[in-house]
Amino acid sequence: MISIIVGTNRKESKSTIVAHKISELLRSAGQKSQILELKDLPSEMLHESMYTSDNQHTIISQYQDKYIATVQKFIFVVPEYNGSFPGVLKLFIDAVSVRHYKTNFSGKTAFLVGIASGRLGNAIGLDHLAYVLNYVGASTFPQRLYIPAIDAKVKDTEFQHEGDIGVLTQMLNEFVNY
Ligand SMILES: Cc1cc2nc3c(=O)[nH]c(=O)nc-3n(C[C@H](O)[C@H](O)[C@H](O)COP(=O)(O)O)c2cc1C
Repeated sequence: MISIIVGTNRKESKSTIVAHKISELLRSAGQKSQILELKDLPSEMLHESMYTSDNQHTIISQYQDKYIATVQKFIFVVPEYNGSFPGVLKLFIDAVSVRHYKTNFSGKTAFLVGIASGRLGNAIGLDHLAYVLNYVGASTFPQRLYIPAIDAKVKDTEFQHEGDIGVLTQMLNEFVNY
């Protein structure tokens, strides 16, 4: 099982559309996956008591157990917000770090996919995220996919870009066997 983590809680997010395309490509390759949507998490996770395991919101605990602790491989689909990855993703990583820290990311692997309206495809935000993931014990898959100019590549709520989908398919096959 691979967890695909959508790195924003924005409604009608294009990262969600790309995450569904990744899930479809994995299914075609015979690989099971599940999508974690940060927008489904309770807004109460942003609370002054979030830093102790006893006070962890039950839904955060359930998501941590299902999508993080019991999974060995992750795919992060992460939009560029103000030159980096969205703060809500860091909030989620911090929120799960207070309980069963070692079972979360230690010794596991993450494939990073960047999304942006602009020209860089969140290359710098993925560097920032890689630093955090490495800090909490995960290694990052050496290949990354940067998807710039996302607005022109999503049509009728579907990710449609032959070139990027070709590269993505190849990278996913290598990640599954990594
Ligand atoms: C708060 C915010 C900040 C943004 N900052 C950038 C940026 O620094 N560079 C860029 O290329 N696009 C930026 N964008 C545009 C996003 O990359 C674009 O909306 C993309 O679709 C985001 O993915 P999403 O649809 O999953 O939210 C920003 C968008 C938001 C909402």
